[in-house]
Formats: sequence, structure tokens, C-alpha cells
Amino acid sequence: MRPLFTPFAIALLAGLHALPTTAVQPISAVGSKFFYEDGTQYFIKGVAYQLIPEDPLIDTAQCKRDIARMAELGTNAIRVYHVDPRANHDGCVNALADAGIYLFVDLETFDTSIRPDAPQWTTAQFDRYKAILDEFQKYNNTAGVFVGNEVINTREGAAATPYVLAAARDIKSYRNEKGYREIPVGYSAADIAELRPMLQDYLVCRPDPADRLDFFALNAYEWCGHSTFETSGYKILQSHAKDFPVPIFFSETGCNVARPRTFEDQAAVFGPEMSDTWSGSIIYEWIQEANHYGLITYGPPSGASPARLLVQDGFTRQGEPTPVAPDFNNLKAQWATLKPTGVALSDYVKSTASIKPASCPQPTAGGWTVDPHFPLPTLVHNFVHRPPPDLAPPPAPPRQGNELTSSSTSATASFKPGSTSHAPPVRVTSVAPSYYRGKNSVNSGSALRWRNSGFEGVSLVVCMSIAAFALWL
Ligand SMILES: *[C@@H]1O[C@H](CO)[C@@H](O)[C@H](O)[C@H]1NC(C)=O
Repeated sequence: MRPLFTPFAIALLAGLHALPTTAVQPISAVGSKFFYEDGTQYFIKGVAYQLIPEDPLIDTAQCKRDIARMAELGTNAIRVYHVDPRANHDGCVNALADAGIYLFVDLETFDTSIRPDAPQWTTAQFDRYKAILDEFQKYNNTAGVFVGNEVINTREGAAATPYVLAAARDIKSYRNEKGYREIPVGYSAADIAELRPMLQDYLVCRPDPADRLDFFALNAYEWCGHSTFETSGYKILQSHAKDFPVPIFFSETGCNVARPRTFEDQAAVFGPEMSDTWSGSIIYEWIQEANHYGLITYGPPSGASPARLLVQDGFTRQGEPTPVAPDFNNLKAQWATLKPTGVALSDYVKSTASIKPASCPQPTAGGWTVDPHFPLPTLVHNFVHRPPPDLAPPPAPPRQGNELTSSSTSATASFKPGSTSHAPPVRVTSVAPSYYRGKNSVNSGSALRWRNSGFEGVSLVVCMSIAAFALWL
């Protein structure tokens, strides 16, 4: 090894390592649509991406393997439910940007989400939401953030709605105070007939835009197999959304009751009946798990070098992505033919002055229970930056060894895909795989810190090895 192997060389390589590559245009919400900076309309062709519960965006090599397949599928967005704001996401997020793929990130995680049974909005929650926004606002391809996922699922649970809106109000205000780009802030709702359209209207009906969501999204599994716009229920969704003042889209879709999945609903979403109202859809989900919604498998754990593969709940969550046949190709074929152009921003802005907030839903006996005239909750100061004991897992003991070999970690032991621990809703119009709601699942901070430092360590070693090799040559 030559003496030139110095901190300077390391710094140079570390710099190159972190460099974002191509410029990517931010997305903004204008009226009821999303636009690229150049004024063309953005329609979401997304997939839900959560290979592992804590954060799927820290393993750059894995992201790159998946992104190649996402590009083949025609994906331009992913939704990620849980991220660790302390981790370094440059590798994954810049690789997504290179492929023209945007992110919708959930700000809440297992122990910070607003609870329908005991709703509150506290500084402890807000601080954790802020940390995720702080981390992801850096990236031009962050297209939006969610302040909640399926928080309101029952008539009684509707009491949590003002808390969800208070979270959106405070995150928007924080975003503006910090001078961040106006990253759209929205909510992802369960598809429950008794609550919609009141819920979606409540969230966008106040006179001050600061007290409204920037977008609304629905997890809907109404269209199964060979159905139609009329018979699937989409016609009703469309009638409720037609004059919606902000963008609306499917934050999960892809019923799997009829198999194989043919994704015929995509033709309606991007077709003449809906594309003037809806901004696209996110297909649930990338990885094959026990729920059988996957577009990709990573092969059996007995595949090549099993000791290097991450296996949880019996599914390999790392390695070479293999499309699930014929579902992957069915979706790819649908998306390949669906290319709505929408409207140019320069034309559209001429009509946005006439967009009005939704009319606020009035409470009715036995129906919608939330009075829209009641003020939104204010933030409750809570200086214990820890969740209450019933939500907090005991701290995980420090672990040793390579995390890639662990098949059951403390962070995932009680992560139960498919478990529905919440009370049954009044009537769920479409059965949603609510696996990532996970209020009774745990998240282990100490395990995460350890995991991340592991990844950074590996990356630094790789960098240093390359530097050493280059200089030796
Ligand atoms: C992010 O977007 C801004 C505004 O368009 C642009 O100036 C900047 O170059 C972009 N950055 C990257 C890394 O693409």
C-alpha cells in the first residue's frame, strides 16, 4: 500500500460516494393536481415498498436491485410506511431519483401514530414527525408525506379526525417556518363507506388552507378481477371526489381476491372516467408476504448463501428480486398502455381561482359524529420524549454479529403481518391488508441505531478498500 492512502483520498471518495447524480424536478400540488416543475402533470404509478419493518431505504445495494425491476414495471413512485430518520438515505433515495421514482413517506411509525381509541397530538409525536420531514425534505424526489395511515376506521374512531388534521396543520406550519419546499402533506384513509365522503371532506373544508390537507389518499380494494367502473364501486368513489379541492389518489390498491391479479382498475384510474380527478395509484405491495399481495419474491431462504439473506416471518427480504408471475407482467402491461397527459399547469392555473374548499360535513344521528365547527386540538406539551408505557417495548438488549443473518429480531418478533388487532370497523368497503398499521407492533430504537451503524461501517470499509486498491494500482 502506498503512503498516499491518506485522509484526503478517503474524503474525496466519500464525497463522490455521496454525490447526487441527475437533477430531479420536485413535485408540487396545485389545485387538485400534482405537477412537475416544468408544468406537466404528475400521475402516480406507485408501489408500496417495505421490505423490512423499520426502514427499507438504508440498504443501497438492495434498493438498486429493486429499482431496476421498478423501472421495468414502469413505476414512478414508492410509498414507504416506516423509516428511521437517523439513518442515511442518500444511497437509496438518489438511486430512486436517477430512475425518476418519487417517494411518499409516512411520518408516523409504530409508536407515534395517532390512536383512534385514545387520540392525542403531543410534542413527543410532533418531534418524531418533524425528524422524518427534516430527513426527507432534503430530497427533491420526496413527493409527499402522510400524517397518518388508516387512523379512522370506525364511527367511534372518527373522534380522532381532528387530531389527524391538527397534525397536518402543525407539520405544514413547521415546513413553512423552516423554509422547506412545500412538500404536500396528506392522509391515507381506510375505505369505509360509513365514513366517506364525510372524512375526506372534513379534512379539506376549512376556510384557511393552513387548516386543510394538501392531498387525500384512499386505501381501496374494491375492484377485484374482471370488474367495471360501474360495478366495482369506483363510480361512487369518483362521484364523491369529482370536485375535490386537492389531489386525491389511491395510496393502496390491488385486490387479490381474484387471481392472478390483472390490475384492470388501472385502466379506469388513468382513463377518461377518473384521470381528470384522480392522480393515480400505489399498488400494494412490492414484496411477497403471507398476505399474497407481492409483485416480487426474493426466493426461498434456502437459496444461494442463505447466511447472507435477511429472513423474517418466513419470507426472504433481500437478494435478487424475482417477479411474481403473471401479476408483475400484468401490471407492467397495464401501465405501459396508460399514459394520461392531463393538463398543462399554464392552462390549469387559469381555473384554480374558482376552486373552493369542500363543504364541511354536518354531524348526523348515527352517522358522522365530528362537528366541523369545533376548533382543532392544540398541541399538548409532553416533555417525556418517550411513548407511554403501553406503547413502548422494553429496550432491546444490544445484539452482536451481522444483522443480515438474524432471522428473528426483537424489532420484528411482535411484527405480525396479517394480524388485525384493531376492533372490526363498521363496514370496510374493501378489505385492506392493514399489516403496517402495527400499533401493537414494536420498533426498537437501539436495534436500529446498531443496524445503521453497521451499514455505514460496511460502506466506509468498501470505500476505503476501493481507495486503497486504486492507489495501489
Ligand atoms: C432540486 O430541485 C431544484 C429546483 O428545481 C434544483 O435547483 C436542484 O438542482 C435539484 N437538485 C437535485 C439534486 O436534483
